[in-house]
Amino acid sequence: MKQLRFIYTEKNHKWGVVCRDPSRASYMIDTNECIVIDGDEGLITDPGGMEIFPSVFSAIGSGFNPKNIKTIFSSHQDPDVISSLTLWLELNPDLKCYISRLWTTFVPHFGGDDKTLVGIPDEGTTLSVGTVKLKVVPAHYLHSSGNFHLYDSRAKIYFSGDVGAAILPEGADLYVKNFDEHIKSAIGFHKRWMGSNEAKDDWCKRASELEIDMIIPQHGAIYQGKDVQRFINWFSELRVGLFTSAPDISEAAVEDKSEKIATPADMADDSSEIIEIGGIPNVAAQTATPEIAETDHSDLEALMEDNARLKKKADQDTMQKKNSFINKIKKFFSRKE
Ligand SMILES: [Fe+2]
Ligand SMILES: [Fe+2]
Repeated sequence: MKQLRFIYTEKNHKWGVVCRDPSRASYMIDTNECIVIDGDEGLITDPGGMEIFPSVFSAIGSGFNPKNIKTIFSSHQDPDVISSLTLWLELNPDLKCYISRLWTTFVPHFGGDDKTLVGIPDEGTTLSVGTVKLKVVPAHYLHSSGNFHLYDSRAKIYFSGDVGAAILPEGADLYVKNFDEHIKSAIGFHKRWMGSNEAKDDWCKRASELEIDMIIPQHGAIYQGKDVQRFINWFSELRVGLFTSAPDISEAAVEDKSEKIATPADMADDSSEIIEIGGIPNVAAQTATPEIAETDHSDLEALMEDNARLKKKADQDTMQKKNSFINKIKKFFSRKE
């Protein structure tokens, strides 16, 4: 299970990180959720996916009443960032979720409505937690088209979403200890998932102007002290969003990969998925339509009935799973109160 670790405490102002989940399934990327507390009020950053909700919820409950979380900051729209929204709303239906204005009509597919989701304008905004104001910093195209980070000038802590992310082995330290070694686990991720050199350069300039003691990414370890500027300098020199080597498209290689689920290790992989011809990525080569085997249509009706039956069963299973989560939360609160 995940654990809550407080990394900053100054009177009644605190930052905690919910980190490292050795019990999670190996096919799921590990995530860091932050809780910012000021007085009795809390804000959570990138609260994570539906699957890890019970783990995040109980970790936070070990140091703070999750009912006092009034605000969610969602750096972008990904499932590992915000697919747990509907479960957080079961806990507190008045929660506000701040996310780029680009995503306010997409994220309700995970949960929430037009009262829950508050669109952040492209230039950013400020968010209040207790008496403290946090700065919402634009980081568009790093990696989402509508993307933000969160900066606390009092704690000098910068939550950087997927920027600074690294895919680390189990048991890795919470903080970066050896920058040169650590960054080897971040390079593939940044080259592939960060889409624009211009956006990256712009962000590096903006981040350098802030006084930052710690950068906390949504995956991997925390950069602190000198490693903060070291990371910004490294990122400013990295070329991102480019793929130059061709993948193995031999029949054996394609067959071998056909049923595989992408793993966190694949996300760290620096290999190319796009063939480049004369310097121009050939997207058509990557997306060529596979040959479709001929189908006997005489049994189509039976097939459709089968499909409808299977879908109904899958929906029931999903509802059962969700209801069991919710019942666990309700039991948790009835124990505490
Ligand atoms: Fe992401
Ligand atoms: Fe992520």
